Amino acid sequence: MSKLLIKGGRPLRGETEIKAAKNAVLPILAATLLTEEPCEIHNVPVIADVDNMLKILRSVGSAVEFKEGVISVWNRDATGYNVPTELAKELRSSFFLLGPILARHRRAIVAYPGGCDIGVRPLDIHLKGLSEMGIAIEESHGMIYCDGTRLHGADVALDFPSVGATENLMMAAALAKGRTRIFNAAKEPEIVDLQSFLRALGAKVDGAGGDRIEIEGVEKLHGAVYTPIPDRIVAGTILIAGATCGGEVTVTHVVPDHLDALLFKLNKSSCNLRVNGDRITIRSDSRPRHFDKLETQPYPGFPTDLQSQMMVMMCVSEGTGLIVENIFETRYRIVRELIKMGARITVKDRTAVIRGVRSIEGASVSAGDLRGGAALVIAGLKAEGYTTIDNVSHIDRGYDAIERIFASLGGEISRLR
Ligand code: EPZ
Repeated sequence: MSKLLIKGGRPLRGETEIKAAKNAVLPILAATLLTEEPCEIHNVPVIADVDNMLKILRSVGSAVEFKEGVISVWNRDATGYNVPTELAKELRSSFFLLGPILARHRRAIVAYPGGCDIGVRPLDIHLKGLSEMGIAIEESHGMIYCDGTRLHGADVALDFPSVGATENLMMAAALAKGRTRIFNAAKEPEIVDLQSFLRALGAKVDGAGGDRIEIEGVEKLHGAVYTPIPDRIVAGTILIAGATCGGEVTVTHVVPDHLDALLFKLNKSSCNLRVNGDRITIRSDSRPRHFDKLETQPYPGFPTDLQSQMMVMMCVSEGTGLIVENIFETRYRIVRELIKMGARITVKDRTAVIRGVRSIEGASVSAGDLRGGAALVIAGLKAEGYTTIDNVSHIDRGYDAIERIFASLGGEISRLR
């Protein structure tokens, strides 16, 4: 199990190019199952979640190749409809396969998925929507058996704008007979990107980015070559690191609009932000000014996937700040690790109170989930002295060699094998 070793206390300087978004690439890879023709997905980062998704595609008969950032997928022989349990346990987004497999084969067997342990992460919204589209669902012994012989378009209202459920239903509807309308749909940029990819395959999808998405099912879809949107969460993580450690950091190949909620917060915390086309530069030479409250919300609200990173910045800001995590119920496992580093945080239910301290000290800490692990890297880069981070496999799920990203920005960070 590799560890990261960080010597903190230096400002960060330089620029880094952002690759395609993990949370766009994963549903798009699942959507390639909707066509028997070849697809190519470009600018893909080398991260564990993508590797696992390719394993799952292979397990249902896809032929896949991943070379120099390009994934080529041939799904003509992807006749499988049973996602293997051991792979599904690895990856929550294995559940994205349910919609496309049902659309193509009219039946599916998947295990309850794994993924980050940041909450119960039920699937009731996915399953309720699919049953309204005529899917007969049986659950037993952790497996979900679906009979989609009567799959049809339907009006589906989501109890919560679930990202994964919205994506699953969009993909199931693409080949379903008739019209499907999804009400209270998630509005994340990755949903709009999935709509763009489905359109590239020849699907009739409209309205993504708003709270009502309309899909007219078609008989058949063709292949496509596609470059997904850049990863707003990786870009945001790096910008927050710049704000926290000081210096001057630029992220390139980004879509600034996707980061509005973060940029608004950073603007209020004494950083100097410059947005220029697809580049964002943050300059910070003083202790971050605190902001009173941060609440996570579905897009376009503040993203839950940047909450842990902001917590680290608030740990060394002036004054006292509040975080309310409204999306996942256990996204605070990083707190006990930050307290080891001298942070002053108390948690009650979904609220964390952070009393800013002038400095934090290096310590031996453990990554508990993907974004919490990335936040610990920021804490190590800021801390005085040495920090080691274990369970780095959590971080490798969503960051392509995080130590190389921050070393290129002047951070003293290396991976101990
Ligand atoms: C996606 O997860 C992302 N993952 C998550 O990113 C992200 O944090 C999340 O959306 C919210 O933006 C991928 O896209 C692969 P949800 P997903 O369904 O689809 C509840 C990362 O770090 N819910 O929008 O699982 C659920 O418990 C990951 O990259 C139900 O109750 O998120 C949660 O409280 C972490 N029933 C809330 O909705 C359901 O059927 C949001 O979940 C589905 C969800």
